[in-house]
Amino acid sequence: MIETIATKPYTDQKMGTAGLRKKTQIAMLPHYLENFLQSIFNTIPNLETKSFLVGGDGRYYNKTAIQKIIKIAAANKVKKLYIAQDGLVSTPAGSCIILKNKLDGGLILTASHNPGGENGDFGIKYSTSTGGQCQPQESQAILEQTLKISEYKISNSPDLDLSQIGIFRCEETEIEIINPFRDYIEMMQRIFDFAQLRTLLTSGFRFVFDAMNGVTGPYAKKIFEEILGAPQGTVLNAIPKEDFGGLHPDPNLIYAKTLVDLMYSDSAPDFAAANDGDGDRNMILGSHFFVCPSDSLAILTDNYKIIPAYKNGIYGVAKSAATSMAVKRVADTLKIGFYEVPTGWKYFVNLMDSQRISFCGEESFGTGASHIREKDGIWAVLFWLSVIANTHKTVKQIALEHWQKYGRSYFLRNDFEGIEQNIADKLMSELEARLPQLSGKQYGNFTISNAHPFIYNDPVDKTSTQNGLIVHFTDGSRIVYRLSGTGTNGATLRTYIERYVTQDLDEDPNEMLKELSAVSRAISNVTHLTGKEQPDIIT
Ligand code: G1P
Ligand code: ZN
Repeated sequence: MIETIATKPYTDQKMGTAGLRKKTQIAMLPHYLENFLQSIFNTIPNLETKSFLVGGDGRYYNKTAIQKIIKIAAANKVKKLYIAQDGLVSTPAGSCIILKNKLDGGLILTASHNPGGENGDFGIKYSTSTGGQCQPQESQAILEQTLKISEYKISNSPDLDLSQIGIFRCEETEIEIINPFRDYIEMMQRIFDFAQLRTLLTSGFRFVFDAMNGVTGPYAKKIFEEILGAPQGTVLNAIPKEDFGGLHPDPNLIYAKTLVDLMYSDSAPDFAAANDGDGDRNMILGSHFFVCPSDSLAILTDNYKIIPAYKNGIYGVAKSAATSMAVKRVADTLKIGFYEVPTGWKYFVNLMDSQRISFCGEESFGTGASHIREKDGIWAVLFWLSVIANTHKTVKQIALEHWQKYGRSYFLRNDFEGIEQNIADKLMSELEARLPQLSGKQYGNFTISNAHPFIYNDPVDKTSTQNGLIVHFTDGSRIVYRLSGTGTNGATLRTYIERYVTQDLDEDPNEMLKELSAVSRAISNVTHLTGKEQPDIIT
């Protein structure tokens, strides 16, 4: 039976950089999730002809949320739901399943790399038939629904068992519990040379993969250990946990510290990688070496010919404005298109759909390609393994040779966290107002050549988006300022600092960027406005 439940709007259901992210305690408030789901369905016409994928990264509250989605979708007469077995699907595999099966979209329950658990974060990414997350116009339409919602529909049928693959029903809606691995693994096998990778991984090459207790554990076990023959135990933290074992499932030098310590120890393996909670982010490490994600994108692009799926050529590349310029130098050399977009993977979707780009990436440990419409952690790891298998070089050698060829963009992101929203807004608006007067100003060894807001004009749908502020220096250095759109604790100011050099290639980024980091604080006035002398997090 279908019930209609009266409700009142919540005023905080605006999606951020990647879907709706909230404290789990907020998401569990009465009607909170129901309102949001009904608001999404309210924006989609002809639901009786539509099919969606549902799954998530296994974090706390996912199971409850999936049952709610089934019942609300059924009450709204959705044609069919594909539910990942046990409710577990990685964000990249979800995109793959939507595209392969020509679905109308998907609801992926994840707050990505944010901590999970009852006192952690919860989130929903809403994808469309593109396989990518909804575009700003679509999230705006959903927001408008959330602000005027007065009722939602829900079936009162019993919960479904998500552990059995098969076809079931809720009201008139067909519910198919699917294998969440098959389509994705087949796709990886079509892109990469698995025979060559198997030779590498069974040759004594020492590799560890940290799944950070997130959803990629079972994918990585199947791909690296079962199919490619890496030794049992190659995949660490391989079982998805509701609270990620108390870890912060963000693959970077801070939160993947155990792995980083191993890679800088005397017993460091040859290669290590980590993925985040929902499997779209990746970190790449060699023995005593960390690959900056901006460099990773540039290095992989430079090596595209190694990969069977790309050997006949690639379209262009794109990066978020905050990401370093390293990949542009490769694009210029390869004579392929280059695009700079706002932060957030959704901005790459039109470029991929229109065949303008093949590869894209963000400094925030995101790398991917047009095989799907999300960034893809395991894809990046398979690509790196392929480069190693082909070149027989270490990660460090590969990076050093890249810098010798192209020069190096030293890059760091400084995050100032937990700022009061009104102070953060004031900082950004005052800085924006000052930008026109900054040209020509000198700060120590750095002179500003030009400063402006970053405005992106999408070449496909012609929408215009402003995201962040950019300060350029005469030596090619850049600083980008923007506020995070994924946090759940006040505001976070992100300051992206980049300095390009053609010598001193193998130095510590913290040293090379010390002066420019101080300059970035002076320009933004952050210390005066927040009392913070230093960033809370440097990645
Ligand atoms: C952060 C990253 C951004 C990424 C997003 C989702 O967003 O900076 O590059 O696309 O997470 O993984 P932010 O908090 O900066 O808005
Ligand atoms: Zn993620």
